[in-house]
Amino acid sequence: MEQRDVLLVGSGAREHAIADALTREGNAELHAAMQVVNPGILALSRTTHPSESDAQGITAFGRSAGADFAVVGPEKPLEAGLVDALEEAGIPCASPTRGAARIETNKIFMRQLLGRYGIPGQVEHLETSLLSQALAFCEQHQWQVAVKPIGLTSGKGVRVWGDHLHTPEEVKQYITQVLRTRMSGYDEVLIEELLRGQEYTIHFFSDGTHAVASPAVQDHKRAFDGDQGPNTGGMGSYSDANGRLPFLSQQEYETSVSIGQQVIAALNEEGVPFKGVLYGQFMLTAKGPQIVEINARFGDPEAINTLMVLRSNYADLCMAMIHGGIREDMASFDDKATVVQYVVPQGYGSAPRAGEDVLIDEPVIREIGASIFYASCNLLGAAKGKTRVRTTASRTLALAATGSSLEDARKRTMEALQFVTGNVFHRTDIASEESLRAKVAQIQALRGSR
Ligand code: AMP
Ligand code: GLY
Repeated sequence: MEQRDVLLVGSGAREHAIADALTREGNAELHAAMQVVNPGILALSRTTHPSESDAQGITAFGRSAGADFAVVGPEKPLEAGLVDALEEAGIPCASPTRGAARIETNKIFMRQLLGRYGIPGQVEHLETSLLSQALAFCEQHQWQVAVKPIGLTSGKGVRVWGDHLHTPEEVKQYITQVLRTRMSGYDEVLIEELLRGQEYTIHFFSDGTHAVASPAVQDHKRAFDGDQGPNTGGMGSYSDANGRLPFLSQQEYETSVSIGQQVIAALNEEGVPFKGVLYGQFMLTAKGPQIVEINARFGDPEAINTLMVLRSNYADLCMAMIHGGIREDMASFDDKATVVQYVVPQGYGSAPRAGEDVLIDEPVIREIGASIFYASCNLLGAAKGKTRVRTTASRTLALAATGSSLEDARKRTMEALQFVTGNVFHRTDIASEESLRAKVAQIQALRGSR
């Protein structure tokens, strides 16, 4: 096996999962650029650099480490052009250039691309800088809309009728705020028809012209059980042994994969070929799969689900994304279900309590058959096999397991959760039988109305 030095940028559980995938077969040495020192990535890395944003410093770090290639985890450095800087300095990247990352960083670009190429799964939408036009569109849709700033907002800018917006007045106020403050740096606002159904994610490993798709994964954005409470970065996720989800048919999965592949072909046509992992976020509605969002990176937590069952060597797959020639057999996945449970500080989603100590019994968690992926926390030390970390205002860590079935995987994460103690909380309904049954019933009712 060829040995490679890899520069990894990012410090979340997503990047810990990437680090784990890159190193598990022993053919990659990691050099990590991370803002917060992630204890999991630290343990897997040979050298580290304390920033994710300083392009010059990261490039110099990558060069002195002799990096054969780089992987950039989060969206902010992609938008800032870190990949362009690294490639200019001779470090190829299994991540997209700034131009290709516009598929995530500019929602107008995304919607217009789908329109121009007639890609299925488009939603009715309007981009405008005029309040009067925006309100006319909302009225046409009986105010059943999603209101979105055009650029990146760390997942906090989208407001949806029924979830965050309950009256026409609230819709109007939010649109006014987005326009007046030029939220995320644009003059326009994007208004979309409200989609109803179940959301899911598919990752695409792309070399710019061809892509291989991952199993479908479902994330849970709301803070509390039953999809209640504020939106978060994601509280937990699952994927099933057959590569689909209990509510998603094989045909619907294949339609979604075809949509993602058409997006990659369109970006190539536009002269901004997408190399790296493209994240398709879909909603299965009465009309079939529709596109909620496209991101230019792995999802977090969904990266954990996908990479835990990736059978292929990830460093090799990255080389194929960089140099071309991706084939279907280059990314194969174990026929296993996965469950990921995030553990987050009390108050996460509204007023998170940073600075709290959390104790993690790593050996017992491993014995149960679960894995730990650290997120945003500070390592205080380890004693008698127990690791002590301190919370920040973001997610603390994720517990993850694979299994022959969702029930089997979930049993392990639920048991492992008892060995993480402190002022933290987690959702208890991720992949529970009851929640899966409700999702299937909702989709059956929607299919009946087609
Ligand atoms: P985003 O940050 O753009 O991924 O959106 C955050 C969340 O808002 C998504 O995960 C969806 O749950 C919801 N959302 C976005 N667009 C729509 C839409 N058109 N209809 C319904 N919900 C939406
Ligand atoms: N899990 C949602 C995201 O990474 O955007």
